[in-house]
Amino acid sequence: MNSEKSFTYHHLKALLVAFLLVISTSQTWADGNPDNGKTLFKANCARCHNITDQKMIGPGLKDVKSRWTDEANLHAWIKNSSDFLKTGDKYANKLFNDFNGSQMPAFALDDAAINDILAYIEKGETAVDPSQATDEGGGNKTTGGGKNTNRNIIIVILVIGAIVLLVVARALSNVSRSMENISRKETGEDLHPERTPFDFFTNVWNWLGAHKKFALFLGIILSSWLSYEAFVALSKLGVYQGYKPEQPIKFSHVTHVKQNGIDCKYCHSTVEKSRHAGIPSSNVCMNCHKAVNEGPKTGKGEISKIYAAIGWNPKDLKYFENYSSMNRDQIRDVFKDWLADEPGAFENVEGQIQQPVQWNQVHVLPDHVFFSHQQHVKVGKVECAECHGKIEEMETVEQFAPLTMGWCINCHRKTEVQFASNGYYDRLHNYYKEHYGEYEMTKGQAFTVEKIGGLECSKCHY
Ligand code: HEC
Ligand code: HEC
Ligand code: HEC
Ligand code: HEC
Ligand code: HEC
Ligand code: HEC
Repeated sequence: MNSEKSFTYHHLKALLVAFLLVISTSQTWADGNPDNGKTLFKANCARCHNITDQKMIGPGLKDVKSRWTDEANLHAWIKNSSDFLKTGDKYANKLFNDFNGSQMPAFALDDAAINDILAYIEKGETAVDPSQATDEGGGNKTTGGGKNTNRNIIIVILVIGAIVLLVVARALSNVSRSMENISRKETGEDLHPERTPFDFFTNVWNWLGAHKKFALFLGIILSSWLSYEAFVALSKLGVYQGYKPEQPIKFSHVTHVKQNGIDCKYCHSTVEKSRHAGIPSSNVCMNCHKAVNEGPKTGKGEISKIYAAIGWNPKDLKYFENYSSMNRDQIRDVFKDWLADEPGAFENVEGQIQQPVQWNQVHVLPDHVFFSHQQHVKVGKVECAECHGKIEEMETVEQFAPLTMGWCINCHRKTEVQFASNGYYDRLHNYYKEHYGEYEMTKGQAFTVEKIGGLECSKCHY
């Protein structure tokens, strides 16, 4: 290999480094906007975190950046802490244990939105009042963030595209120049003067021009890799299908629904009356678990966590008096004794003493989306399983559907409105008949959710 060739190889490397720089910087240029961050924080984080150093359900987040050496890790943690714990990161796992294994829910936030939140935390402010956590700012919160990530990806693609174009253009011009030179040689004219390279890039492009096949190969590899990355990044934006967090109590839908035939609505009692299906409180558990103190799979250990949370004395079969202000050691003794025949059980229950059960949310729609269970279950007569899968077969609940906009809309396109024997539509029925006609409905055409406005942005977005 001659020295000139290795010279250009070096420059090729320089070009690649420049490439990577462009890529990496374009991913962080979205600086945080603390105002947007404040709205996001209140909507998503304030019920568990203060921005001071005061502990709530989670740690106070003051100076949190300084506790994380790697910003990418911090982002990964916020997006899905249970996945991040699986990487074995020491700091995160220690933190998780310090908080008795209570788990932070996953968030469909993109990097820009997280930067906004971190900017808000950094800027600091008087502590956020958690009681206002959900009431504020129903507006377009995360949409700005989403665009930034998309924009980054598009910019990277454009940069690569431009470079590939330049390479090709250079290659073509070299071809035409050498053609010219050949023809000049033939006619005896002066040869076209060789161009003197004036910088790295010209040099490298010249080299690539002279190695067109290699340039083409490089271009194809780079652009397919980037398209693939972009595709994966875009299709994953905010999708948490399969998300399956551990729960503080090993509550099993198999035991309750499949084996004991308990109706979904017994526990998710607001599912036909409100937007939310609701998670049962410990009082609801106690309707049965005053009597049932042992399960077939987990013995007394898991059920005892309900007792420890709510203050039921399983030995005396009555509630402790003034439980919240009781001496902890006294309670520990009762449970230690109660669980003496199950090795390791007490240690698991201990953290739950005098603490409410904090179920980890499995399904989380962004705040700018309106979704109502009542509308779907009661009016639309859609089965739970269509959206949640076979919950009765899940030992640990996981997110079955992608919960993306496309998923909602696809179903609205193909699902028919249940007009028949539907109290909700007694009055509306005639209105729709007038507007869309008996003709269409009796023709056997589907009268889908789309036709009652189920694709209108404002139906699903505030
Ligand atoms: C349901 C309660 C809950 C919510 C909501 C929540 N977190 Fe957490 N967070 C926790 C808990 C608990 C921990 C401690 C680690 C653990 O046990 O998983 C934690 C830890 C953290 C940490 C690490 C703190 C440190 O000291 O290093 C960060 C950062 C964090 N959360 C950010 C957020 C952000 C940002 C949001 C909102 C988008 C949020 N959390 C929402 C409960 C929550
Ligand atoms: C005995 C009470 C009980 C019954 C009956 C019950 N559930 Fe649950 N469900 C719970 C509890 C407690 C949780 C929270 C813990 C968890 O996720 O496992 C939960 C969680 C869920 C979740 C996830 C909630 C989230 O965080 O997003 C879904 C979905 C769900 N249940 C659907 C159903 C369906 C469908 C049925 C009927 C087939 C049903 N449940 C029957 C108690 C019950
Ligand atoms: C058309 C789809 C759909 C149907 C049908 C449906 N759900 Fe849901 N469910 C969702 C979505 C979407 C969420 C997330 C809601 C959010 O984050 O605001 C959810 C959340 C939940 C939760 C978490 C707590 C809450 O209130 O947000 C529970 C529990 C739940 N569903 C139970 C049920 C049960 C029980 C049924 C049947 C009686 C049912 N769902 C039917 C889509 C559906
Ligand atoms: C309608 C009655 C009822 C309600 C309400 C109820 N359970 Fe149960 N639970 C049962 C029955 C029955 C068993 C199984 C006992 C058996 O088969 O020996 C059981 C078993 C369990 C087990 C042991 C599981 C195993 O397989 O070992 C746990 C843990 C549990 N329940 C937690 C809860 C929690 C937490 C709640 C409240 C969110 C709750 N239960 C609400 C009736 C109920
Ligand atoms: C499995 C099918 C299905 C899925 C998935 C689904 N929907 Fe629906 N949706 C329906 C049906 C059926 C109705 C009609 C109910 C009625 O008769 O008003 C409806 C109605 C609605 C309405 C009221 C529309 C109107 O014009 O009154 C809204 C809002 C809505 N859905 C939001 C959502 C959102 C948000 C999602 C995704 C998170 C979603 N839906 C997912 C089936 C579905
Ligand atoms: C049937 C319900 C439904 C309708 C109709 C609907 N959306 Fe959405 N939209 C959603 C859901 C659900 C999400 C959240 C998706 C996610 O988190 O992946 C969403 C997310 C978005 C986002 C944010 C994307 C992001 O990255 O977070 C934008 C912007 C948006 N929708 C715009 C629109 C516009 C514009 C229309 C009207 C043409 C519309 N939507 C109609 C349900 C709907």
